[in-house]
Amino acid sequence: MNPLKHVAIIMDGNGRWGIKHKNSRNAGHKAGLKTVEKIIKETIKNRIKFLTLYAFSTENWKRPKKEINFLFNLLENFLKSRINEFHKENIKLKIIGVKNFSKKLNKILISSEKKTLKNDKLQINLALNYGSKFELLNAFKYLNKNKKRINENNLKKYLQTKNIPDPDLLIRTGNTHRLSNFLLWQLAYSEIFFEKKLWPDFNEKDYNKIIKKFSNIKRNFGKV
Ligand code: IPE
Ligand code: IPE
Ligand code: MG
Repeated sequence: MNPLKHVAIIMDGNGRWGIKHKNSRNAGHKAGLKTVEKIIKETIKNRIKFLTLYAFSTENWKRPKKEINFLFNLLENFLKSRINEFHKENIKLKIIGVKNFSKKLNKILISSEKKTLKNDKLQINLALNYGSKFELLNAFKYLNKNKKRINENNLKKYLQTKNIPDPDLLIRTGNTHRLSNFLLWQLAYSEIFFEKKLWPDFNEKDYNKIIKKFSNIKRNFGKV
């Protein structure tokens, strides 16, 4: 049985789900939030310590403004209504990515992180305005500017995932087989599962099936 400390998820397929069921991409984003709730609960049940959710990439700014605004409104309302419960459930929230949203949303994000900082049951890393290339370049630039040695240990310290173990398992829903600029460094040795279902259709059973398969994989890390 492989230990499972960290699951990362590319929650893809909301837009297609929304168009199919309600003729609106935004309806899919709303439905996707319910899956987020389910998967958080199931992650706790499985005693997994870190869950990283890709919610908005640096490339997602290329989407229509209306969709972007809808997404951030959804997030804002979600955090406003759920952060106290997260806190009670001993969940820590961390944002990875650059917080350059509206003043209001930035404030909510910062206060949510601050409130839950000491919690230690589950750490949720929400990847928001996150791009792996940007993260890596930034770390290299910092090392260079401060005349630090460029090595694996030093680089890790300047990634947004500092102090977070690399994901053991990556799941991408939505029947698309790519990484879309997500955790390129950190996923070097992760087990990757591509799931056909769209994110709003993904459920606890699907999640547990993947976890079970993961637990039986022979992870070599270069050895035999
Ligand atoms: C992923 O779902 C969620 C975000 C990027 C916010 P998409 O919105 O990419 O859904 P599809 O891939 O268009 O169906
Ligand atoms: C990746 O999904 C980003 C998130 C899930 C937040 P996208 O739907 O944006 O990825 P591409 O553009 O299809 O690669
Ligand atoms: Mg997509």
